[in-house]
Amino acid sequence: MDRNAVILSLFAGIGGFEQAFQKAGFTGDVLAYETWSSAQEVIKMRFPSATLFADVQDLPPNLHNADILTAGFPCTDLSPAGRQAGIAGAASGLIIGVLSAIQKQKPEWILLENVPNMLRLKGGEAMAIIGSMLSEVGYRWCYRTLDAQHFGVAQRRKRVFLLASRHQDPERVLFRDYANAAGSKHTATDRRQTAHGFYWTEGNRGVGWGNGVVPTIKGSTTAGIPSAPAVWLPKKPVELRFRTPSIEALETLQGFRPGWTSAAPARDRWKLVGNAVAVPAVQWIAEGLRAYDHLSSVELPGELDVKHGWGTAGVSVGKHVRRARVSEAPLTGPLRRAFTLQRVLEERGSHALSTKATRGFASRLQRSSLRYQDSFMRDLNAYASL
Ligand SMILES: C[S@@+](CC[C@H](N)C(=O)[O-])C[C@H]1O[C@@H](n2cnc3c(N)ncnc32)[C@H](O)[C@@H]1O
Repeated sequence: MDRNAVILSLFAGIGGFEQAFQKAGFTGDVLAYETWSSAQEVIKMRFPSATLFADVQDLPPNLHNADILTAGFPCTDLSPAGRQAGIAGAASGLIIGVLSAIQKQKPEWILLENVPNMLRLKGGEAMAIIGSMLSEVGYRWCYRTLDAQHFGVAQRRKRVFLLASRHQDPERVLFRDYANAAGSKHTATDRRQTAHGFYWTEGNRGVGWGNGVVPTIKGSTTAGIPSAPAVWLPKKPVELRFRTPSIEALETLQGFRPGWTSAAPARDRWKLVGNAVAVPAVQWIAEGLRAYDHLSSVELPGELDVKHGWGTAGVSVGKHVRRARVSEAPLTGPLRRAFTLQRVLEERGSHALSTKATRGFASRLQRSSLRYQDSFMRDLNAYASL
C-alpha cells in the first residue's frame, strides 16, 4: 500500500496508532481528533506536522478523504471495570456516529481497537452492531484478539483489532501469519523469568500474575485511581524485591520511547499511557497494510457459527461471521523483546512498593483461596516487615 496514504486517527490519545504507522513506513498526512487537552499536548509535541482537531462529532462528511481511518474508541462502557452500558453508552457509543459517517464516505481501510470484553458484554452486541454497519455498505471485515506480550513488550495486554476494507481483503493482513502456515508451530515463550508482574491493588479474586510480564496497564480502576502493576524481583536483595514501574518504564512497556508523554501534566501521564494502544501490536498490522500488494490470500481454520458467542477471532461472510481458530500471537513466534521486564525497570526506573501496600496485599492474598508460590509469600512477608 502507498506510503503516502492519508491517515485519519480518531480518539488519538497519545498517538499510539500514528506512531505505529510511522514505524511501519507510512509517511502521509495525519489528521488526529482528540478532545483531552493533556493528550493534545502530546500529539502536538510528537507529531508536529499532524493536523489536530478536537471532537469526532465535528468530523466533516468527507472524512478528510482519508485512505485509512483508525479508532481506538473509548472503552468506558465496554470494559469489565467500567460502566458496562455497552455500545449505547455515551462514550463508547461515539463510534456509532463515526460509523454513520463511514457509511456515507466509505474510506478504503478501517482499523478499530477495543477491549476483549466487547465480544462478551450483552452477548457481543457491540461487535454485532459495528460489523453489521460495515457489512451493510459493502465492507469486508475481520477481527482478531492480539496480546501485546507476543509483539515485543513485557506486558500482557489483549485487545480486539477489527480491520475492514471496501475493495481489498483484510484477512490477508490480519491473518497473514496463517498464509502457507501448514505445519507451523508457535515458538514457546521462555518460562525462566527473573521478574513477575502482579496487581498489588488486588489479591481477593485474582492478582493478574505474569511471568516476565506486567498485567495490563490500565488508565484507571473503577475507583478512578491508576491501577498499578507491581513487580517481584526474587533475585534482588530483599529491600529491592518489590517495585512499581516509573512512568518512563510504563511508556516502554507500551512500546513508546521513554518520556513520550512528557508534554502532558504529570498527574495525567499514567492515565494517558494506560489508555493507549501497545504500539508494536498495531505496528504489526500496519506493516501488513504497507506490504499488502505482496500478501497472499489465507485459508483459515474455523467454522460458520456465532450461535455460541463470538470467538477471539472471526471473519465476515455476507451477513454471517465465521469463527477463526487462530492464536493471539503471530504464528511465526513471539517477536523478540528489546527489554526484559527486569531490564525495563533497571533502565527506565522504578519505585519501591510501600511496605504498607505490601502488607495489605499479602494479607488479602493469604485470606483468599488463590494459589501462589510459597517463596512469593515468604518474600512479601520479609519485605513488609523491613
Ligand atoms: C482509549 S483512548 C485512545 C487512546 C489512543 N488509541 C492512544 O494510543 O493513545 C480514547 C480517547 O478518546 C478521547 N475522546 C473521548 N471522546 C472524544 C471525542 N468526542 N472526540 C475526540 N476524542 C475523544 C479520550 O480523551 C481518549 O484519549
